[in-house]
Amino acid sequence: MTHPEKPSQHELTVTEIGIIRESGTGDRFMIGRGLNPALIDQLIKKSKQSHIRRYCHRDAEERFASPESFEAWRTSKGGRNPYPLTDGSGDLAGLIWYGPQPFTGTDILNPATDPNHTFAIRMYEGTEGRGLARPFMIETMHDYVEGLIRSGEIATFNGIHLETDADNPRSIPLYKKVGFEEVSRDEEGRVTMVITPERIFG
Ligand SMILES: CC(C)(COP(=O)(O)OP(=O)(O)OC[C@H]1O[C@@H](n2cnc3c(N)ncnc32)[C@H](O)[C@@H]1OP(=O)(O)O)[C@@H](O)C(=O)NCCC(=O)NCCS
Repeated sequence: MTHPEKPSQHELTVTEIGIIRESGTGDRFMIGRGLNPALIDQLIKKSKQSHIRRYCHRDAEERFASPESFEAWRTSKGGRNPYPLTDGSGDLAGLIWYGPQPFTGTDILNPATDPNHTFAIRMYEGTEGRGLARPFMIETMHDYVEGLIRSGEIATFNGIHLETDADNPRSIPLYKKVGFEEVSRDEEGRVTMVITPERIFG
């Protein structure tokens, strides 16, 4: 099934979907859908930042190592839908993505009801810890789900799952505030969290 607003594999453009104003400074940040070559270039550079290397184990060396690995990632597993956050100068402040992905987070698996889409977020140096992540998550999640409604894929949508390190000081509080719930925690310190369609539409 096709997603009407999903960029085609050869079309790398950004569509503005919203604005976040930072409380306090009033600084404006733009939320986009899709990435263009200039932002992909920034993403490759910013993925090497130390806090990203620490908590996002596959960004610098795998998914965002080069334009080619980015493209392989974007078109893998039924497609990845990236949403950039940019500041007034066009600098990449953060990145979120969603896409279909089977759930493997607990021993009790039921493909008919398990959350079957995934999500990830990164805020880059200078814009981390400024209260932008929560509105960025909420706006993009609504946009992604609206896309599923338009394409008809909503009929099989069972919610979103994610994985994070248990010792990541900022991620788990953020995800809980948005409505994710912890469903499992393994011995290597990986925590799985899910958000149901009811909570998203809530
Ligand atoms: C995880 C990450 C996305 C969070 O982004 P952020 O910019 O720090 O988040 P924000 O400043 O918007 O804070 C989000 C909320 O969590 C709260 N929060 C942050 N740290 C907290 C903590 N230690 N305890 C309790 N609440 C906390 C904030 O108060 C804020 O709540 P609010 O929206 O009500 O103000 C960011 O730290 C990041 O990109 N880290 C590196 C990459 C990463 O770890 N990604 C996730 C991999 S799973």
